[in-house]
Amino acid sequence: MSIIICPYCKSSLYDSKEKTYICENNHSFDIAKQGYLNLLPVNQKKSKDPGDNQMMIAARRNFLELGFYDPLIESIKNLITEKLSFVTKDIIAFDAGCGEGYYSEKALNNLPGLKTEILGTDISKYAVKNAAKKYKNNFYFVSSIYNLPIKNTSTDLILSVFSPIMAEEFKRILSKQGYVIIVSPAPNHLREIAELIYDTFRPHTSNIVEKMTPLFKHDFTKKITFKIDLKSTEVLLSLLKMTPYYWSTGIERLENITNKNELSVTCDFNIDIFSQ
Ligand SMILES: C[S@@+](CC[C@H](N)C(=O)[O-])C[C@H]1O[C@@H](n2cnc3c(N)ncnc32)[C@H](O)[C@@H]1O
Ligand SMILES: [Zn+2]
Repeated sequence: MSIIICPYCKSSLYDSKEKTYICENNHSFDIAKQGYLNLLPVNQKKSKDPGDNQMMIAARRNFLELGFYDPLIESIKNLITEKLSFVTKDIIAFDAGCGEGYYSEKALNNLPGLKTEILGTDISKYAVKNAAKKYKNNFYFVSSIYNLPIKNTSTDLILSVFSPIMAEEFKRILSKQGYVIIVSPAPNHLREIAELIYDTFRPHTSNIVEKMTPLFKHDFTKKITFKIDLKSTEVLLSLLKMTPYYWSTGIERLENITNKNELSVTCDFNIDIFSQ
């Protein structure tokens, strides 16, 4: 049974089997060639092309596929299988702000003892297009996490990696015994890169627990820190391009980095687990 709903009238959406999804009030949504749906009503778009652009999405894919963040993937998977307990082994897992789909595929699929039906959304159509094209077993749609086209209490596991969060919507869609996993930058994330760009390094701070705890129980934080050795300018650039530094920093400062052909960089993540 589908857990997605019509963004206009909130009734269930069904696969009409004619390359569209349709609701009982005849709102219909075409399935794109790559297999995704666009469920973002035009009046909820704050710009013509909201979310990450094609270049940012390509940069994320190039970097993530090099495997440097795989220790993070392993930690998320271990937490899910060792620390969380679900009522049944068949669960619905949802990647909120999925980008090009790396985490929904790598962290939510093939979990020992669980069978996951995986859905993901992002406000960027480039993100969703790339995710749907590559990860055909998962179901991706364009929407905003501030107004999710998902049924109440239908989702067992929500994963959010470096994306905006909306506690009220997460609360509404989460099943009674479900969990939310939020990955965010811990204080020293990419410290060496920031030090080459800014005169003084300001550690990352987080307000995720404050945002979530009015509505959720904070079960625990797992901090994971490791170093990655980037051994070419090309690899450095692909990491840089998936950070805000690249898109917001002047060329002279960027040259501090792009002139290098190797750099050892700290990766520092918080994985926060919340439940009802
Ligand atoms: C830093 S990226 C992280 C993407 C992915 N989780 C990853 O780690 O590779 C943040 C993502 O949030 C998306 N985003 C921004 N605002 C959003 C919103 N209101 N609803 C859904 N996605 C949003 C962006 O388009 C972008 O893909
Ligand atoms: Zn409708």
